Amino acid sequence: MIQGKGSDVEKILAKDRAHVWHPMLQHRLLDDGDLMVVNEGKGTTLVDGKGRSYLDAYSGLWNVNVGYGRKEIAEAVYEQMQQLSYYPNLQVSKPSVELAARLAEILPGDLNHVFYVNSGSEANETALKIARQYGRQMFPGEDRYKIIARYQGYHGFTFGAMSATGQVKRRNKFGPLVPGFLHVEPPPLGTVETIERVIIREGPDTVIAVIAEPVIGGGGVLVPPDEYFPELREVCNKYGLLLILDEVITGFGRTGKLFASEHWGVEPDIMTIAKGVTSGYLPLGACVVTPKVFKAFYGDPKEEREFSQVSTYGGHPVCCAAALANLDILMRERLWENSQQIGDYLLKRLQGLDSPFVKEVRGKGLMLAVEMNDEFGNRLDTERMDKVGIGIKDSGVIIGRMSHVMEGPECIFFLAPPLVLNKEEADRIFEAFRSGLIRIG
Ligand SMILES: Cc1ncc(COP(=O)(O)O)c(C=O)c1O
Repeated sequence: MIQGKGSDVEKILAKDRAHVWHPMLQHRLLDDGDLMVVNEGKGTTLVDGKGRSYLDAYSGLWNVNVGYGRKEIAEAVYEQMQQLSYYPNLQVSKPSVELAARLAEILPGDLNHVFYVNSGSEANETALKIARQYGRQMFPGEDRYKIIARYQGYHGFTFGAMSATGQVKRRNKFGPLVPGFLHVEPPPLGTVETIERVIIREGPDTVIAVIAEPVIGGGGVLVPPDEYFPELREVCNKYGLLLILDEVITGFGRTGKLFASEHWGVEPDIMTIAKGVTSGYLPLGACVVTPKVFKAFYGDPKEEREFSQVSTYGGHPVCCAAALANLDILMRERLWENSQQIGDYLLKRLQGLDSPFVKEVRGKGLMLAVEMNDEFGNRLDTERMDKVGIGIKDSGVIIGRMSHVMEGPECIFFLAPPLVLNKEEADRIFEAFRSGLIRIG
C-alpha cells in the first residue's frame, strides 16, 4: 500500500521537477533531494505522499489559523459556488458585504471601509497607493509621497510592497525599486525618535505614511517594546502621517489578541490583512481604512477623487464566503485565547531548552522564533542549522526558517502553529527541538 503510494509520489516528483518553478528554491538542490508531496491536512496534522504524518508547526506559511480540513468552510464554499460562482466587486455580492461588515465589527477602532484584493502583497500595494493619493488630496500644494518603513520588515513581493520591504535579499536583484521609500531600524536598535528625526530631516511636507508590522515576522519575530506603537501613533498624528499596520501575519489571533495592535491599544489609519482572514482555504487580502481616509476619496465625480484601482478577483464572493466561515470558527472557539495560553506555555518550554546553540527564544502568542548561535556567539552556520532542521523534521514536526532575508548565515527557526494547538502538541514541538539539537551536540 505504502509502496504503491511511494511510486505515485515518484511520478509526481518527476513531473514537478520537469515543470514547476518553486519559490525561493535553488532547483539544483532537487538533484540530491526531494520536496515533500503534501497530500492531506486535518487540524494541525499534514500527511505526505508516503503516508507519513507531521505536526505542521508553521501553519503552511503562518496562515492556517483554524487548522486544516474544516468541513464548514468547505461547505460554505460549495454553497456559494453554486449560488454565485463569481462576479467582480464593481457591483455588490452578499458575502463581500457581510464580510466587510463583520471586519468593521471586529477590527480595532473605527476601521470600517474594506478594499478587497487577493493577497498580502496586494493589500500592502493598495495601502501604499491609497496613502499617496490621500497625500495629494488632503495636502494640496505639498508634495507628500515618501513612506517610511523598517529594515527587516516584509510587506510583499510586488514592486511597491517590495520597495517598502527592508530585507536586502528580497530586493537587491530587482532594482531600481520604486522611489520614495525610506528605511529605519526597527526595535531594539531603532526607536520612534529615529523615525521622528527622519520625518524632520526629510521635511514633514514630503512624507505621507509609516508602514510597519506590529511584530516583524519573517524578519525575525521582533516584538517591539510596549511604548513603541503608542509613541509612533502620536508622531504620525503630530505630522499628519498615516499609520499603516501590516497585520498580514499578526491578524486573526496569531499573537494572542484578535489583532496585534490591540496589545498596545493602537488604531492605525489603514490596516492590511490576508493570511488568517481565510486561514488559507482560499486567497483573500484586504486593505481596511478609517472614515478619515475614506472621506478623502469622496466628492463630486468631476473632482476625480475616487481610487482608480480594480482587481478581477478582489472581493471574490467565494473567497469572502470562506472568510466568513473561517471567522465564525475563530470567534466561536475564541482561538486568540488559546494562542495566548498555549503560546506562553510553548515559549516557556522552549526557553528551557538546555543548549549552548540556542541564543534566544522569543515571540508573542503562537508567533515564535528560536534564534541560534555557535560556540563563539556568532550566527550559527547553515550546515548546523540544516542538521537541526532535519532532526526536527525527522521527529515529525514541520517548522519555518528564515530565508533570503539578510547576508550571511540565517539562523532563526520560526514557529507559527495553527491556533488550535494543544498542550501535548506543544510538548511534541519541544521534544522535536530537543532531538534536533542533539544532532549538533
Ligand atoms: C507581514 C507580511 N506582509 C505581507 C506579506 C505578503 O503576503 P502574500 O504572500 O499573501 O502576498 C507577508 C507574507 O508572508 C507578510 O508576512
